[in-house]
Amino acid sequence: MAATEGDKLWGGRFVGDTDPIMEKFNASITYDQRMWDADIRGSKAYVKALEKAKLVTVEEMNTILHGMDQIHEEWSKGVFVIKPGDEDIHTANERRLKELVGVPAGKLHTGRSRNDQVVTDMRLWLGDGILALREKALELITTMVERAAVEIEVLFPGYTHMQRAQPIRWSHWILSHAVALSRDLDRLQEMKKRVNVLPLGSGAIAGTPFDIDRILLQKELAFDDMSINSMDATGQRDFVVEFLFWASLCLTHLSKMAEDLMLYSTKEFSFITLSDAYSTGSSLMPQKKNADSLELIRSKAGRVFGRCAGFMMTLKGLPSTYNKDLQEDKEAMFDCYDTVHAVLQVTTGVISTLKINQSVMEAALSPDMLATDLAYYLVRKGMPFREAHGISGKAVFVAESKSIPLNQLTLDDLSTICPLFESDVSLVWDYRSSVDQYSAPGGTARSSVAAQVEHLRAWLKKQAQ
Ligand code: ARG
Repeated sequence: MAATEGDKLWGGRFVGDTDPIMEKFNASITYDQRMWDADIRGSKAYVKALEKAKLVTVEEMNTILHGMDQIHEEWSKGVFVIKPGDEDIHTANERRLKELVGVPAGKLHTGRSRNDQVVTDMRLWLGDGILALREKALELITTMVERAAVEIEVLFPGYTHMQRAQPIRWSHWILSHAVALSRDLDRLQEMKKRVNVLPLGSGAIAGTPFDIDRILLQKELAFDDMSINSMDATGQRDFVVEFLFWASLCLTHLSKMAEDLMLYSTKEFSFITLSDAYSTGSSLMPQKKNADSLELIRSKAGRVFGRCAGFMMTLKGLPSTYNKDLQEDKEAMFDCYDTVHAVLQVTTGVISTLKINQSVMEAALSPDMLATDLAYYLVRKGMPFREAHGISGKAVFVAESKSIPLNQLTLDDLSTICPLFESDVSLVWDYRSSVDQYSAPGGTARSSVAAQVEHLRAWLKKQAQ
């Protein structure tokens, strides 16, 4: 049932009823009700500023505060009743306040607009959201770092262009993804400063003509800063876009990791086995165990980037300040939040429960992956790298034409190619000593990977402070 315009908070100048289809099209209450708590916090702070400005009496303020607490209780108990005509969370809460406290409710919106109210709510909501995502991301990074520490001895092939490249530590692979995530967390933290800015007191566009103490509002709502231009404060949504972009990048990182794990979990690779808790079966093929968790993680990057691109298209070319197009910000923000929140938890689950098949991983190493080390052997004997690269390539060619592995070439074979090869060349064919040469910071040597673990542990400790 459509409400008549007279019942609406903005109904004064309207005579006819809204078309029910328009009513539904216009409303955001179905999704913006999740900001009920932020909306109540904002109103409670605002009524204090109204009292300070002598626009409401202390008594009226207390009545409104009490009414707001009652509304808070209704929402938290799940008994708040949304009525026809409750266009959004702001109108719903104010309508309910009027029912509960009567006349003083009409003073709450003095000098305030839904334009500054909605961004205040969103900034409060997203500030809390960032904290929740941070926690989940820290859990994931901790899981990865500790897994890397425990499995530091495990070697497996590293790939470039999807071709076997060089032997690396499995832990080195894990940490490569953990460090990318740690940058995502740094970015999230960095973004928080720009989210945590008070817009309230900006009115619809021009600011407020009343003595609204914005510093009081900032303190009450624990914002780090306040907006410096009312048109910017009400009309910009760059803080939302930044969050959507952040979500896109974070999930791009996780989709890349998921892709590797998916490949490693195939029968062909068999490097890892996903736990049943994160796999599903096929309705047709009884033998199948599908890595649905990883496929979904991979897919969600597309979803959130779609939200980001879609909302940016909404913003492009909009005229200044508030236009209803901006209402599109909320579903994008909520959806990206929910998606990242879920993905982070599922990824933690996948990583903490998968089993590695160490013997298969190590058996996948092949002597050709040491061709670079063969060149380095010659470099250590004084040969320029370019030349050594050519000679090692020749050794690969000879081994291939003899259909034998590279390490099966005899010393005779090798010294025919280059007289610098001596019997100590046999030491090259050891995967463990190969990886341990890469001991410069950032490399795959045990010492270097252990240093990476320590680096990330220290970083994690700092995040907890
Ligand atoms: N529901 C609206 C939104 O989400 C609130 C702001 C409405 N402002 C207005 N001038 N109609 O954007």
